[in-house]
Amino acid sequence: MPVENSRIPGFYKKTVEERLDIIAQLVGLDESEKKLIASWGNLDPAIADAMIENVIGVMAYPMGIAVNFKINGKDYLVPMVIEESSVVAAASNAAKVMRRDGGIQTVATDPIMIAQIQLVNVKNPFYVKMKIIEHKDEILDLANKQDPVLVRLGGGAKDLEVRVLDSPLGPMVVTHLLVDVRDAMGANAVNTMAEKVAPLIERITGGRVYLRILSNLADRRLVRAWVKVYKEDIGGEEVVDGIVAASAFAWADPYRAATHNKGIMNGVIAVALATGQDHRALEAGAHSYAAKTGVYKPLSTWEKDEDGNLVGTLEMPMAVGIVGGATKVHPIARLALKIMGVSTAKELAEIMAAVGLAQNFAALRALATEGIQRGHMKLHAKNLALMAGATPELASRVAEIMVSEGRITFDRAKELVEELTGREQS
Ligand code: MEV
Repeated sequence: MPVENSRIPGFYKKTVEERLDIIAQLVGLDESEKKLIASWGNLDPAIADAMIENVIGVMAYPMGIAVNFKINGKDYLVPMVIEESSVVAAASNAAKVMRRDGGIQTVATDPIMIAQIQLVNVKNPFYVKMKIIEHKDEILDLANKQDPVLVRLGGGAKDLEVRVLDSPLGPMVVTHLLVDVRDAMGANAVNTMAEKVAPLIERITGGRVYLRILSNLADRRLVRAWVKVYKEDIGGEEVVDGIVAASAFAWADPYRAATHNKGIMNGVIAVALATGQDHRALEAGAHSYAAKTGVYKPLSTWEKDEDGNLVGTLEMPMAVGIVGGATKVHPIARLALKIMGVSTAKELAEIMAAVGLAQNFAALRALATEGIQRGHMKLHAKNLALMAGATPELASRVAEIMVSEGRITFDRAKELVEELTGREQS
């Protein structure tokens, strides 16, 4: 029920239990509903409470394992957390036909993140740009003093670029710090550096700094993946042609490219969730990179080689980390990394790109042949059967019947559950 007044002074100061009690009272949650919200499962309430504000409970999502992945000659089991049916199955099926020749090939660049420092109130922006460049070593030194551990690990601020922007408020001089963040996602490291060097840039230029923040268009931290899929493994050259046509459609049309890229992100984000990444940063990076030419384009391309086989390539930013943030504190994120057996952020980025490419292939293959609804409907039917009270074993039987009848509705699922359980009991 809607609440009359959402103003709850000092809510953030209460304990987790007190907050849940307050909410329960305000909106009328009963004891069983409260218990459900506070079923902490694999996340300790103290950790949850430290991760975000105003915590009252947790929400569990399914974690599945995509099997069959071979990437750069190495086998991987890939944990995926997602609410959408078919994604894990599709990734696993795609990976199965991508195992030849060492599997999916990938390579990530050095993990370079960009921090932006926005300078305004400058009369002679081009001269100011040179002044900043003149003090490059001093600026980089000051940035690196903020993170000696990162520097010791081989990372740190490596370079600096200065851009003069034409804005609605007149010219702005924007400095980019290029920071190698090693195994971190890097937001904290680069934001700290940007904040620390801002006063120095003001002193050098006499201008005024406002924003000091990373850019999610992480185009210095790219990952590339490519694969050959043999035509005989996927139903012949006609299927290859269909996938190539789908790819060309995405290249020609932003409306299609958005959906094409969404299919890639189905895989990327599911792994990101399982491993506790900042998935909003990944989405922002992916879509801004897709639009880098000024026209929104697909992140992957599918072509036919001289033998009629399908070859696919993907290039996108991938700002992921395996130290710090939720990756560090969430026990399941740590276990997800253990299941994958990854030891560097670069390796994780490469796996995620491979999963994105496989996921994209699976979608295009389905779309270019039977359509995606058949597979979707099978899983949807099973979900309906579960909602109608079927046990997992019974749900598969109910789903099969509904699919064969072509009647996939909750009412039919209920009827079948009653019929089949009644028959089994009598
Ligand atoms: C659905 O989650 C993803 C697809 O729409 C991707 C695509 O159209 O390529 C199937």
